[in-house]
Formats: sequence, structure tokens, C-alpha cells
Amino acid sequence: MKLWGGRFEKGPSEVFERFSGSLHYDRRLLAADVQGSQAFARELERAGILTAAEREQICAALGEIAAEPADPTASDEDIHTLVIRRLKEKIGAPADKIHTGRSRNEQVSLDFRLCIRETIRALRLRLADLMEALLESAARDGEVVLPGYTHTRRAQPVLWGHYLLAHFEMLGRDATRFEQAYRTADLSPLGSGALAGSGFPFDRERMARDLGFSGITRNSLDAAGDRDFALDFLYAAAMTMLHLSRLAEDWILYSGEEFGFLELGDEVTSGSSLMPQKKNPDSLELIRGKTGRVAGCLQALLITMKGLPLTYNRDMQEDKEAVFEAADQTEASLEMAAVVMRSARLNRARSEAAAEQSWTQATELAEALASRGVDARRAHELVGRLVLESQRLGRQPRDWTPEALTAFAPEFDATMAELLDARRAVENHAVPGGTAPSMVRQALDEARRRLEQLRAARL
Ligand code: ARG
Repeated sequence: MKLWGGRFEKGPSEVFERFSGSLHYDRRLLAADVQGSQAFARELERAGILTAAEREQICAALGEIAAEPADPTASDEDIHTLVIRRLKEKIGAPADKIHTGRSRNEQVSLDFRLCIRETIRALRLRLADLMEALLESAARDGEVVLPGYTHTRRAQPVLWGHYLLAHFEMLGRDATRFEQAYRTADLSPLGSGALAGSGFPFDRERMARDLGFSGITRNSLDAAGDRDFALDFLYAAAMTMLHLSRLAEDWILYSGEEFGFLELGDEVTSGSSLMPQKKNPDSLELIRGKTGRVAGCLQALLITMKGLPLTYNRDMQEDKEAVFEAADQTEASLEMAAVVMRSARLNRARSEAAAEQSWTQATELAEALASRGVDARRAHELVGRLVLESQRLGRQPRDWTPEALTAFAPEFDATMAELLDARRAVENHAVPGGTAPSMVRQALDEARRRLEQLRAARL
């Protein structure tokens, strides 16, 4: 069955049908298509095009179609065509009225918006679960000290809780981006017609309310040609994956022999077919790998949309695979990351030793000198020389007694030797957003509250 045909003398070639059909992926819009068509049927009744009995019959049959299992032999052009065909098969003539004053252009936009709204709801819950897993690790080991890095070089000591909260912040911003994408999608295009606005006096606001939208799109040309909501979604998904990928990269390093800070659970690692000793972080590597695909989805739709003349063009059918792919990969990666997170155990001794033994406390010492009136440049120079000397002598920071320190340079005083303890160094950073235990505890309390708010806020 076709939704068009009168103007044609012959049907489409088999190649064109195969090339242009989208049912194998837009089948996923079935529930949304039915929901939209039911709301539209109610409006057709109000407009006097359907009788109450017809509307009832149509809505009931649509409900049944929504529950039908996918038929692999169906050869309809797309999901919209399939639904109309099944409706016709079920109830006969009244089915033809459902397309009165409605175009597939508004229908596909409507379905896609409904579907993206649902997807965002699900992804937000996944994000919240991963954020919770971070806080669980912080509750267990939040006060452990480890090196913070710049340039992959040990820089200054930080608390594990502080480190976890950095990832919490990134995921929190991702949640906000998904909420923004939700808002762009949350407008009903129904009543826009093919491009010029429907020729029937439909109450667009009422249809929008019926479908739980917060409002209507303002311009019919824009409504037909717009996929910003899909791009906003893809951007939010790509950013989420980017953050997961950075987390994965850290943890791949931290769980390797060279760092040894983390032990990943057996349940998220795999062995080697040849090397018996191996325990590989494949789960994290796959998260990192999938990030490329999701970023590619965003790129693909950006380029598809670039330069398209107003309004609808069939190019836009390419939007769905990008969005579905990004949604699936992001959801699976969030789920995987939470399982990895809950399986991992911090090696306290290794992390603390790494912070202690590599002069991550050097900045503290220089700042202590500066706060006693030594000018900053001289302070930096002196501590730099102390580090060099230590390396020459094979000394660790803690090997410097107060006497040895004051003997090294008169600017040092005996109390400064205490600062060579990484934990003391951490305590100094008591500004908001800093790594001092008091600040991290506050930040964790606040994070718990924010997570509750995220969970409570219904989209
Ligand atoms: N399958 C089409 C799509 O996804 C539906 C809209 C078709 N409209 C049209 N005028 N060909 O974009």
C-alpha cells in the first residue's frame, strides 16, 4: 500500500523501494506513531470529520496495532505507512480518514519528538545511577589521598572523593544538556501540515496538551524542516560519551600495573587467549571506543542538515539511525560504567605512596615560604633545588628532617617539614571547590542533594 499514487503511471522500482525504505529502523517509532494518530483522531472528531463511533473504532484498532509484534515480511515504506495499512486491514474504509489534513512531514517530526522525549527520560535515570555509583565509592574511600595529574605527571595530592566529584560534575552537566534537548523537543508540530500549516481549523494547542507537550511550534515551515531537537539530543549524547571516555581512560591507566591504584572486578574484565596472567579492561576500552561512534552520529546529522533548503527533504530521513544509534550506545555505556564503578576497589597503599613519594607536596612548601615573606620566585627556586637534591641523594620528601631542611636553606623553618606529608598538603586547600577534607565533605553532601533533585525532577 502507498499513501500516494494517483499522479503516477507506474510504481517505484524494486531498487528504489529497497533504497528508500526505512521500516527496518523507524519501526521503533511505532508507539509514538500510534499515540500521535490517536490524538489526531480525537481532533478530527472535534472538527466534525470523524464521528464519535469512527474515532472510537480507529483509536481502539490503533491500540491493537501498537501491541502487534514486528512482522519481518512487512514491506511498507515506513512505520507511518505500516500503521495506516494495518488500520485499513482491520477496520476498512474509516481508516482512510485518518490522513485528513495531516502530512507525514509533521507526523515524522511529531513521532521523533515523542520518542526523543522518552529516550531522554531513560538516559537521565542512567546518568543518575552512575552518579550514585560515584558517590558510593566516595563514601567508602573518599578520604584516601592520591596524586592529581597534569600532563600525566604527578602534580599535587588530592582526595579520592575530590577526584570522583570531578566526574560527578561532568555528568551533572550532561543531565542539564539532556534537559535542554528535552525542552527543544517538547513542542508539538501537529497541525503544521506538509509545510504551510493545516488547511483544517485544528486546535493545535489542544492536540499539544493531549500529547503532553509544553507548547506548539510557532512556524509551519520551520516545523517541517527542523531537526534541531535531534541535534541537541546528539550533542548531549556525544558530550556524555566524551565524559565517559575520559573516565574510562583514567581508569584504564589507574588499574594498570604502572599505576596500580584500582582493582577492577573480574566481572568487567577479560583474559587473554594466550597470556595467562592478563586481566584486560575491555569494558572501559569499549566505552572509550564507542565514543567515536556517538560523536560520529552528531557529525553525520550536522552534515546531513547543512545546506538543506527549507522545508522537508528526504535527506532528513537519515536522522533516525543517527539518533537511535547514539541513544543505544550511550545508554549501554552508562549502564556499563556504573557496573565497572561498583566493581572497582581502590588500593589505598599504592595511591597514597604515589602521592607521598613524588614531590606532589612541593607546591605546599613553596607556598609556605611565600606566606612567610620569601618572594614567590625565590621560593619556587629553593624548593626546585630541594627536589633536585633529593633526586641526587635518592631521598624521599619524608626523609627531610626539620634539621636537614633548615640546613639546606635558611629560609626554611623547622615546622615546614610537616608539609612534606601529602595529607597535610591536601588539608591546605580549603577554598570552596578545593580538595581539603572539610571542603570535600561539604561538596559530597551537596552532591547527594543535587542527585536527589535530579531524580525528583520529572521531565
Ligand atoms: N520516512 C520519512 C522520514 O523519515 C517520513 C516522511 C516522509 N515524507 C515525505 N514527504 N516523503 O523522513
